[in-house]
Amino acid sequence: MSTADTPAGRWVVGDRDPSWSCPDPDEAAQLFPRTLEDYAPTPLVELPELARELGVGTVVAKDESTRLGLPAFKALGASWAVHRALETAGRRPDAEVITATDGNHGRAVAHFARAAGRRARIMVPAGGVHPSAIAAIRAEGAEVVEVDGSYDQTVRTAADYSSGHDAVLVQDTAWDGYEEVPGWIVEGYATLFSEIDAQLHEAGRGSADLLLVPTGVGSLLQAALAHHRRRSSSGSTAVVSVEPDAAACMGPSLAAGRPITVETGPTIMSGLNCGTPPRWPGR
Ligand SMILES: Cc1ncc(COP(=O)(O)O)c(C=O)c1O
Repeated sequence: MSTADTPAGRWVVGDRDPSWSCPDPDEAAQLFPRTLEDYAPTPLVELPELARELGVGTVVAKDESTRLGLPAFKALGASWAVHRALETAGRRPDAEVITATDGNHGRAVAHFARAAGRRARIMVPAGGVHPSAIAAIRAEGAEVVEVDGSYDQTVRTAADYSSGHDAVLVQDTAWDGYEEVPGWIVEGYATLFSEIDAQLHEAGRGSADLLLVPTGVGSLLQAALAHHRRRSSSGSTAVVSVEPDAAACMGPSLAAGRPITVETGPTIMSGLNCGTPPRWPGR
């Protein structure tokens, strides 16, 4: 493990174990989004000026501004996790769907809960989510509850609420004893990375040398790593997680070798203001 402070921020570089790999992803999770009416692969957009500025061959961005009828990739995880969670909660037909959010995840959960004919209760940190994002969640028919505290406290409040009510928690982060639903969220994101592979292949570009992943709580990052370190992958793509200085929980956790919680502050990186990476068994 090494760290370096540069004008562009602090780098934490893990020791790569080339033998480490993940099981291949669940096929049902990959097929599911393709059964939804609004499914279409999102564009991979070339950024030639940025590539010139950086002195590299090609830079592309996966444009997730229209994903399953919503403006963020979060729809991929939320659609699959809401589907699986409600399937599992089959004998509780009146259960509402609940989550905590920094914005996009909550909107997506509200959207797919409504599509399944369920009420949704979405908790947001008071003052931490832009009013337009709150309005968009309400427009999905959800009840929005503002919690006086950080994102992490809002997650705890949603979890406490779900254990005392007929509510199904669809949270995109894991802790001891709550791993199944966030696992479905991560599985749902796999489609994004297989689309990138197919689009690069169609463009005759082979696989990417470097993948930069914007990181909030870390579920998208986990999906990227699961994809690029799956047994059937060549493992040739380096994955870099990028997070705001004001909410950098992943770098310090990597450096510490275990998930740690950091105090978060205001950031313009909406959706990334999270202070604790997910916890998985044995970590
Ligand atoms: C636009 C956007 N990018 C990246 C992320 C980070 O995803 P994760 O919280 O899984 O790390 C989020 C999370 O809400 C987001 O809304």
